[in-house]
Amino acid sequence: MPISLPALDRRQFLATSTAAIFAAAQARGADGSSPRKPHPQRFILMADVHMPSKPEMEARGVNMQANFAQAGKDILALQTTPAAAMILGDCAYLHGEAADYALFVKSLEPLRAAGLPVHCAMGNHDHRERFWQALPAEHGEDKYVDSRHLLVLETPRANWFLLDSLDATNKVPGVLGEEQLAWLAKELDARADKPALLALHHNPDLRPKPGGLVDTQPLYDVILPRKQVKALFFGHSHNWHQDVKEGVHLVNLPPTAYVFVAGKPSGFVEIELQDDAAKLRLTALDKQHPQHGQELALKYR
Ligand SMILES: [Fe+2]
Repeated sequence: MPISLPALDRRQFLATSTAAIFAAAQARGADGSSPRKPHPQRFILMADVHMPSKPEMEARGVNMQANFAQAGKDILALQTTPAAAMILGDCAYLHGEAADYALFVKSLEPLRAAGLPVHCAMGNHDHRERFWQALPAEHGEDKYVDSRHLLVLETPRANWFLLDSLDATNKVPGVLGEEQLAWLAKELDARADKPALLALHHNPDLRPKPGGLVDTQPLYDVILPRKQVKALFFGHSHNWHQDVKEGVHLVNLPPTAYVFVAGKPSGFVEIELQDDAAKLRLTALDKQHPQHGQELALKYR
């Protein structure tokens, strides 16, 4: 089952949260009269939230909850409301504690109240069962294999595949496994006529002792020959960076939490799907960061 949180009914949200005033105002048009319609080709990609159990907790000089809240405000301030947000793992701080997920789910309310469904992938600091248990009752239902949380999201111009690379909580490397890769091959083959965009937590890593995805080569064996696969999005290394592998774009998302290398941006990426390319735009939490507002066009192979 995927970790998916649907958009909240605004009246339901108003009854439960004081943050609703902000979210509802942001979700309306400039004239304040009517809610904005989501743009079906636009999506938000985030990673490495590292939400702690208490809002005041900091790590590496960063307040993770405040960073995530800032990202949420920046998303709600965008000119266009995206169709959905995807968060590619490490939603919890280190050990996937129930209290981390409680604060994470609470912190998502303004986005959900503004009409954004949120889909999450598992990171190495997540815990499948505790994450699942923290979800509100109205979570969605989709694909399930081998207790992993997987999702195929069919949208007008591309199919998204959210994979689950969590091996063991708080152990650095990740694994997809033979069963998930077979599932992916089958699901891709069933959707060969539309661009496929893959999203997971761990970065491709072909080193002998990987700190990223252990079965990177088996993943490449599945996706490189299937020409509908255009891009792979991931987090884990907290390092905004792009590369290309045989025409497949490899996009390392920035964290919303702390960076590992000083000077790298924290933030999120807005993506707009076109017929033959995906347009990316980085929003850095620090608006003075030189890469804030950076735009990239990923031409499809
Ligand atoms: Fe992380």
